[in-house]
Amino acid sequence: MNTKQLKAFWSLWKETEGTAEARLPRHVAIIMDGNGRWAKKHKLGVSLGHRQGTETLREIIRHTDDLGIEALSLYAFSTENWSRPAEEVAALMQLILDFFASEIEELCEKNVRILILGDKSALPDIQRKTLIEAEERTKANTGLHLNIGVNYGSRAELVRATAEIAGMVRRGEINPEDITEQTISDHLYTRGQPDVDLLIRTSGEMRLSNFLLYQNAYAEFIFPQTLWPDFTVEEYDRCLAAFGRRDRRYGGRTEEAEQAEGGREA
Ligand code: FPP
Repeated sequence: MNTKQLKAFWSLWKETEGTAEARLPRHVAIIMDGNGRWAKKHKLGVSLGHRQGTETLREIIRHTDDLGIEALSLYAFSTENWSRPAEEVAALMQLILDFFASEIEELCEKNVRILILGDKSALPDIQRKTLIEAEERTKANTGLHLNIGVNYGSRAELVRATAEIAGMVRRGEINPEDITEQTISDHLYTRGQPDVDLLIRTSGEMRLSNFLLYQNAYAEFIFPQTLWPDFTVEEYDRCLAAFGRRDRRYGGRTEEAEQAEGGREA
C-alpha cells in the first residue's frame, strides 16, 4: 500500500467507527444518474449536467484507484441512450472524447487498465478510434480495471456471449454439458475480473437498467438520493463503509445471521 492508499484506508476505517475492518469491495459498479435533474435544478442545459457529472467521475476514479479497489465499472452510455435528443447524444459523445484527451496520461501513469464495455462498432469513427486507442495503450497495465459502458446493454452482452459459446459447441471445442457459470463469465466483457460486489446508483432511482445483470448477481445495492454531479468522495466513502457493514450470505447462512434470525430462513 502506498501513502495515498494508506490515507484513504484510514479515513474509511474512521468512517466505519472502527467497527468494520474497512472491508472494501473488489469491484464497484456505478450508474451515474441525475445529470439531467441537476441541470434543470440549476436552470442549465442537460449537456452541462453531463459535463458536471464528468467532474464527479474524475474524482471517483481517482479515489477508487487510491483505495486500491480492483475494478470500477461506470455506465456512461447505454444502448437505449441513442433515443435521446440528437443534441444530447452529441454532447455525451463529445464528453467521452474530452474525458480521454484530458485523462489518458494520468490513467496510464497510474497503471490503470481501460476496458470499454459495449459494442464500439456502432460508434462514430473518432469515438471508436479514441476508445480502442485507450484500451490498447493500457492493456498491459496491472492496476485498476476501469470499465466504461459505452453503447452497452447487458442483454446484448449475454446474447454475444451465448453466440460465442454456441460457435465453440458447433466447432466441437466444448460439449454443451461442460458449459458452466464460469464459461459464461469468461465470455462477458469483464472476463477475468471479479463479480460486482457493490452497485451504486445515484439520484434515488432503484433500477439496474440493463447494467451488468450477470455480474451483479450477488452485489450489494446502495441508492443514494444525491444527483450524480453532487456526489462527493465523502459520500462515496460512506457507501463503501455501509458496504463493509453488510452481511453477505450468498443465499447461505452465517452464525451472526442465524442468531439474529433465530434460525429462520434468511
Ligand atoms: C444519466 O443521467 C447519465 C447519463 C445517461 C450519462 C452519464 C455520463 C457521464 C457522467 C459523462 C460521460 C462519461 C464519460 C466516460 C466521459 P440522466 O441524464 O438520465 O439524469 P436524469 O435522470 O436526471 O435526467
